[in-house]
Amino acid sequence: MEAAVETFDLTKVFESKEDDVKRYVKAVDHVNIRVKRGEFFGLLGPNGAGKTTLIKMLCTIILPTEGTAKVNGYDIIKEPDKVRSCIGWFHGETGGRSLYWRLSAEDNLKFYAYLQNVPKDVAEKRINALLEFFDLSKERKKLVKDYSTGMKVRVMLARALLHNPPILFMDEPTIGLDTISAVETRRLLKALNTELGKTIIFTSHNMFEVEQLCERIAIMRSGRIIVDAPPSVLREMLRDVHAIEVDIRETNDLHKIVESLSKLSVVRSVVEAKNSPFNATIRLQVDDEYEAIPAVVSKLHSLGVKISSVRRSEPTLEDIFVKLAKEGSA
Ligand SMILES: Nc1ncnc2c1ncn2[C@@H]1O[C@H](COP(=O)(O)OP(=O)(O)OP(=O)(O)O)[C@@H](O)[C@H]1O
Ligand SMILES: [Mg+2]
Repeated sequence: MEAAVETFDLTKVFESKEDDVKRYVKAVDHVNIRVKRGEFFGLLGPNGAGKTTLIKMLCTIILPTEGTAKVNGYDIIKEPDKVRSCIGWFHGETGGRSLYWRLSAEDNLKFYAYLQNVPKDVAEKRINALLEFFDLSKERKKLVKDYSTGMKVRVMLARALLHNPPILFMDEPTIGLDTISAVETRRLLKALNTELGKTIIFTSHNMFEVEQLCERIAIMRSGRIIVDAPPSVLREMLRDVHAIEVDIRETNDLHKIVESLSKLSVVRSVVEAKNSPFNATIRLQVDDEYEAIPAVVSKLHSLGVKISSVRRSEPTLEDIFVKLAKEGSA
């Protein structure tokens, strides 16, 4: 069966000028992914990995530098209008800003349906169904400026669905939401996939969120896809990863401290060491947390370091990167 989305060495290089010196950033670097129809596909990666750039090319917002892709069977370079007719795009960070705050949810949706040439009678029925689906029916006449952030996100999601597209690109839809709204948004996205059969390409920084929702996860770093696997495979990769985090008082010697900790036999690797204004946090992968905690504390104590807290920690994206780097595949 034809894929919902398929990319062919898709690449984007940004050119910028600083003090008259040209700089090139390879934001997306020869990416080849294939998303099946009806799949919930997760794109996971840290800041600057290239997730948004990849999504923007697939949504025909920016042109690739090299390579191409097919969305719903249409070429993103040669048939951008056809691509646009079958996708919905949502960007978490700019979401709320693209609504008219002095209009109601219903009027916003009517206006956007008009812009998208959805016939009036179809639009009316669809808007009613969408307001119902996103639990906004009761407050449909209320002005968007009086909505909570979570409600604004729901109006934006409804907006992305006005022309009933089969494929949805959801770029960090839960960013900036409180826990309850994020849970609700995830529930709605899952329902769009399972009840309405939408193909969803979802981006996030948060490994647990992606693991919860997606049938397949691609991990992106520095423009490249370094893993493309179902969540069960990722879980297996992290099965033997144990991590602890230590907060210490601000220090100028973080580098030296990290070096000493790295030499401890109970420490596999130091994943991250961050200095913030009043303290520093060191994240360590260890074989056994219960053996590692006393050894790490005692080492820090002998170095005269002031510890403010020590905790076990769930595996993160960084842990996967460190593990892959050690295995020579990242
Ligand atoms: N218009 C642009 N001009 C120049 N460089 C850009 C432009 N847009 C993105 N970049 C650069 O491309 C790289 C990838 O950025 P992108 O926004 O795609 O990453 P991301 O994975 O979406 O990150 P985030 O998690 O922060 O949203 C970054 O180094 C970024 O600085
Ligand atoms: Mg982004």
